[in-house]
Amino acid sequence: MDTKALSYIGYGLYVLTTRFNDIDNGCIVNTVMQVTSNPLQIAVTVNKGNYTHELIKNSGVFNISMLTTETPMFVFEHFGFQSGRTVNKFATCETEHRTVNQVLYIPKYTNAYLACKVLNSIDFGTHTMFIGEVLDAQLLSDQPSLTYDYYQNNIKPKPQPQGEQPQNGKRRWECKVCGYIYEGDFLPDDFECPLCKHGVEEFEELLPNPKAETASSIATAPIPETKPVQRIITTQNTNPMNQIQLTENIFYVGVNDRHTELFENHIELPNGVSYNSYLIMDEKVALIDPVEANFLEDYLFKVKSVLQGRNVDYLIINHDEPDHSSTVAAVIREWPEVQVVGNAKTFAPLEAFYGPITNKKVVAEGETLSLGTHTLQFFMVPMVHWPESMVTYEQNSKIVFSNDAFGGFGALNGGIFDDQVNLAFYEDDMRRYYANIVGKVAMQALKAIEKLGGLEIKMIAPSHGLVWRSNLAWVLGKYTQWSKHEGEEGVVIVYGSMHGNTARMAEIVARGAAEAGIKEVKVYDVAKTEVSFIMSDIWKYKGVILGACAHYANMFPDMTLLTHEINEFKPKNKCYGIFGGMSWSGGGVKTLAKCAEEGQWNLAAESVEVKGAPIREEDWDKLYELGKAVAEAVRP
Ligand code: FEO
Repeated sequence: MDTKALSYIGYGLYVLTTRFNDIDNGCIVNTVMQVTSNPLQIAVTVNKGNYTHELIKNSGVFNISMLTTETPMFVFEHFGFQSGRTVNKFATCETEHRTVNQVLYIPKYTNAYLACKVLNSIDFGTHTMFIGEVLDAQLLSDQPSLTYDYYQNNIKPKPQPQGEQPQNGKRRWECKVCGYIYEGDFLPDDFECPLCKHGVEEFEELLPNPKAETASSIATAPIPETKPVQRIITTQNTNPMNQIQLTENIFYVGVNDRHTELFENHIELPNGVSYNSYLIMDEKVALIDPVEANFLEDYLFKVKSVLQGRNVDYLIINHDEPDHSSTVAAVIREWPEVQVVGNAKTFAPLEAFYGPITNKKVVAEGETLSLGTHTLQFFMVPMVHWPESMVTYEQNSKIVFSNDAFGGFGALNGGIFDDQVNLAFYEDDMRRYYANIVGKVAMQALKAIEKLGGLEIKMIAPSHGLVWRSNLAWVLGKYTQWSKHEGEEGVVIVYGSMHGNTARMAEIVARGAAEAGIKEVKVYDVAKTEVSFIMSDIWKYKGVILGACAHYANMFPDMTLLTHEINEFKPKNKCYGIFGGMSWSGGGVKTLAKCAEEGQWNLAAESVEVKGAPIREEDWDKLYELGKAVAEAVRP
C-alpha cells in the first residue's frame, strides 16, 4: 500500500473556532465536509490534543471560516503553530466578529463562514469527528478557496532543496508541518520543533538528491566569489557560548544581574534583571545595545566568543539609559574603529555621560544600514523610555530590537526565548516593569505598537527579559491592554496604619469586596510592600481602595510615595474608594481623595473616615459597604 495516495485527496483549509467560558480559541483544520443538506449538517475532525477540541467538547458550538488563496503564512503560524493553552490567539483583535452562536469568525483572508451547533460526535481514538447543524452561513468575499495543495506549493516557505546538503558534514531534517530545518549529527528522540512544537515523528530527513551536482562537477565549476562572513553555527556547535542564536547569524550576548537589589536604585529586584544585547555577524558586524557596566567582563567574553577575532563595525544605541549604555566607552576602547549609531537625540546625552565620541553615525526615521545580507532599519519611539529611544528592525530576519519596550524584570533562568519558560511565571515581573518604567508613557507605547504594526515581525528582542518568538500575539496583547488602561476584574486595597486601626479597617473593606463576589482582592500594607509591586497591581485591576491614617494634619508618610507614583504614572479607568483613621485632626482621607481626583478616577462610594478604631457598628457597616460598592463597580 502506498499511503501517499491519501495526499491526493482534495483537502481545503479552514480556521475552526469555538468559545467556552468566555475563552475564544481556534486552530487550522483540513477535515471539513458537508454530510447532509436537509437538515444541513457538516462534519469536522479534530485532534484530541488540540485545545480547540477540548473547548468544543464543552461548548457544543463551533464556526468554520473558509480560507482563501490570499491567506499569508502568518495566519497559519498564528492559528496552527501555537496552542491556545499558552496564547490568547484573539488578544489583539480590535473588533469582534461573532455569529449567532457567539463564536468568533475570521473576517479577513476568508470567503465564507459556517456557524454550527454540535449534534453528535464520533470518537476515532486520536481524533473526534464533530457533526454540526449549520445555524448560519454567510459569504465574505469572492476569492477562491484555499486547498492544501495550493498551500504546499504557494504559501508554505520552501525548504532548502534536498540536493543542497550542508558542507560541514551535518545532516538535515525538515519538519513536515512547518518547514523548520534541524541540522546536526542526529535527530534526538525528544526533539520538539521550536516553531510548531511537533515531535520527531513529523520530521523527515533531507537526503542527498541524486540529481545534485557530483563532487567532480563541483570541483570543475567556477569558484564563486567569496563572502567574507556566512559563518554557519550549527546546533551541534561545541562551544555553548555560541549557541544562543536568534537566527543563524544573530546571537544573544546579554547578561544576567542577580546582584543589584534596586533597579534605578528604587525598584526592588527580587528575581534580578537581564541586560540583553545582540550581535549580528555579517560582512559588517553590528552590536545592538550594550549592557550595564558591572557586567563588562562577562559581556566582552560573550561577544568575543562569537566574534572569534573579528571586529565590531557598528554599535547601535537604541537608548541612552546607563543600564544599557554604560559599557559604550569600553566597547569603543576594545574596537576603536567602531562606528556608534544613534539618532539626532542620542549623542548629546551619551557624550554628557561618557565624553566625546568621534566616530558616530546619525540615522533618521526609517533610514537603513546594510550589513551585507542583513539590513537594519531605524524607527523612533520617543519617550519609550527616554526622548532618544528608538528601535532597530532587521529586515532579513524580521526581528525588531525593541530596547525597553516589551521588556520585563526577572533574570533569564536559562530560557532566553518565550517558548522555553512558563510565561505565567514572568507575567508579574513583566507587568511590574511596565507599570513602573513604561506605564508613564502608555500613550507613546501604544503609538510605538501601532508603528511596529506596519512591519512583518517574526521576533521581538527587547533589552530586558525574554526574547519573543512564539508568543508575539500574547505579549503584544498584554502591552496593548496595559497601554489602553484596560483593568481586570479585581480590587487592590492599600493602607497605611501607625497603630493598627486603619489596618483593621482594611480587613473589613476586604470582606465587603470579597462578599460582593470578587475573587481577586489584594491587600497591601504600604509600609511593608515596596511601591513598585503595589503599582503593578493597581495597573492590573480596575478597583482601587486607598486607606491612610492621619499623621499630624496630613497623611501617613509612607503613603505619600504611593500617591506620588499614582500621580506621576497616572493609571486610568479606576473605580475607587477612600477610608482611614482620623486621629485628632484628620488628614489621611482628604489627601488620598485629592490624589484620586487628580487621576480622574471614578468614585464608587463615599469616603469613610473613622474616629479611633472601627469598633462602632455604623463604622463597620460603612467600611463593609465601601468594599462592596467598589467591588460591584468593577464587575462587568
Ligand atoms: Fe532599560 Fe530605560 O533603560
